[in-house]
Amino acid sequence: MSNSVVPPPVADRRLRVLVFAASLRKDSVNATLAQMAARQAALYGAVVDLAAMRDFDAPSYDADSEARGEIPAGALELNRRLTANDAFVIASPEFNGSMPGLLKNAIDWASRFRPQPFHERHGLLMSASPSMVGGNRGLWALRIPLEHLGARVFPDMFSLAAAHKALSGETIADPRLQQRFEQNVIAFLDLAEAAKNYPCMKKAWVEFLGESPDMPTDRVEVT
Ligand SMILES: Cc1cc2nc3c(=O)[nH]c(=O)nc-3n(C[C@H](O)[C@H](O)[C@H](O)COP(=O)(O)O)c2cc1C
Repeated sequence: MSNSVVPPPVADRRLRVLVFAASLRKDSVNATLAQMAARQAALYGAVVDLAAMRDFDAPSYDADSEARGEIPAGALELNRRLTANDAFVIASPEFNGSMPGLLKNAIDWASRFRPQPFHERHGLLMSASPSMVGGNRGLWALRIPLEHLGARVFPDMFSLAAAHKALSGETIADPRLQQRFEQNVIAFLDLAEAAKNYPCMKKAWVEFLGESPDMPTDRVEVT
């Protein structure tokens, strides 16, 4: 029998990133943006999990269903995929100056799991819209529930204006804008990768609004 020492398993240092667009539409411009982000993350060396919003779609949140243990498959799937990844990228349409209802509903369902899957995960937000501001207001609305849940939402966001004309296949026609998109994704991945592999960084990041920890509004466990 050999008495050679078996080295301990090396932790997988590669960043794992969930990427999805919050649209069910077949020709979604946000799905194109999500695909571009996924491609950029793969080039960076991350392990990419490109998902479809249909996988996370769920009936409207209903506390009675939850109390009966009837958790929709879409909610289970979003929790599973977030938990399996270190970071997430959401490309979201803007609906009426805010996020689409299906995305807020998916976030509400996911927020009911413990451990709560957005807590401590790094998130990058992007949007595409035919408008001249590219759906950027919707991203500011989306920051609120995500930051409330303790996600580390990256300060820079990317919004593609006049998206129906700005895209050329799976790239942005204007090379300077394409470069800005790539820089934004890489800057986010750099931070998320550092947070994964250099855990001296502060982890808990959640606002407390004066509630006591046993309130029904509590949403994270802080050790
Ligand atoms: C109900 C509804 C509300 C919308 N509101 C906005 C809006 O506030 N701002 C905006 O830029 N576009 C708005 N749009 C247009 C969407 O940005 C456009 O349909 C876009 O293509 C949707 O994204 P997708 O292609 O990824 O599905 C709205 C569309 C719908 C159906």
